[in-house]
Amino acid sequence: MQNLFSTYKIKNLELKNRVVMPPMCQYSVEKKDGIANEWHYLHYVSRAVGGTGFIIVEMTDVEPDGRITDYDLGLWSDEQVPALAKIVEAVHSHGAKIGIQIAHAGRKAEDAAEPVAPSAIPFDENSKTPRALTTEEVKGMVEKFRLAVRRAVQAGFDAIEIHGAHGYLIHQFHSPLTNKRDDEYGQDLTKFGREVIEAAKAEMPADMPLIMRISAREYVEGGYGIEESIEFSKAYKDAGADVFDVSSGGEGQIAAWGRPGTHAAYQVPLARKIKEVLQVPVMAVGRLDDPILANAVIGNEEADLVQVGRGMLRNPYWTLEAAKQLRKENIVPKQYEAGF
Ligand SMILES: Cc1cc2nc3c(=O)[nH]c(=O)nc-3n(C[C@H](O)[C@H](O)[C@H](O)COP(=O)(O)O)c2cc1C
Repeated sequence: MQNLFSTYKIKNLELKNRVVMPPMCQYSVEKKDGIANEWHYLHYVSRAVGGTGFIIVEMTDVEPDGRITDYDLGLWSDEQVPALAKIVEAVHSHGAKIGIQIAHAGRKAEDAAEPVAPSAIPFDENSKTPRALTTEEVKGMVEKFRLAVRRAVQAGFDAIEIHGAHGYLIHQFHSPLTNKRDDEYGQDLTKFGREVIEAAKAEMPADMPLIMRISAREYVEGGYGIEESIEFSKAYKDAGADVFDVSSGGEGQIAAWGRPGTHAAYQVPLARKIKEVLQVPVMAVGRLDDPILANAVIGNEEADLVQVGRGMLRNPYWTLEAAKQLRKENIVPKQYEAGF
């Protein structure tokens, strides 16, 4: 029987447990240069000390105008590699593995003078109207993702996550509500996402897994549901996605969401469905910070890995405390034993 503290292996990624820190923007790049700083270093390394098996660095963008805000991380320049490499090295030295989420915010790039998107449809009445990318620019965007992934591999990351969720650029392309194009990237809504995955895979060692984060349902009127996400996920799997990280929403105002996320484990049914139908490993996320619940999600084979986001913002030692509560082998660093 698997549990939260069972090891896990996919391709060359070997994890000591099933606890994952999901990507969480820190909006902390004060110099606006996209380069990780001391905050990022302490933030990620402390979760490695805290026993987390796998850490995914926050949304890291492929061009300056792909950032939600100017305070986000980037990988559009070689100058951004060393600070991330330092984080990777330190996380490894504390026994955890680390991936990075590569992204573009598209129409949700708040600080961009003129955000870009598949079509010129604003997020809401308070947002800038984005400019629709030309077909050539879409192809150029795939190349920007490729180069960012190349740099992530150079930095030493163990896995790459592509951000196809939460209403950002790839989600905007595969959602019929935001993609009204009449070129090849509108006729086939998954073409952009598939090309990004293929470009990423071409830069990654063959034994490094690619994780695709998706929003498995939209919460706005007329939005897509799980059946449509199964279909586009099949296309992404065929393109090379090895693992699906199953989230939801982000395409519209929270007020219009019908209050998702009210319940513990609210996205687990979506993850389980993707796992069952596609026969792929999945990562569950969303209000799983009760260790008994997180353990059950693994034990009941609803997901292969469990992510704890806000729970780890509150407590970098979430994993150490979960191990104690679940009476698993003591994983507390010797320096901290007196505290447990
Ligand atoms: C402060 C904060 C920043 C976040 N930034 C990202 C991000 O960069 N990329 C992403 O895919 N999700 C992001 N999320 C969503 C989390 O990865 C996670 O899916 C969500 O918080 C639900 O999990 P939880 O209930 O364990 O917090 C963010 C969430 C929070 C709270």
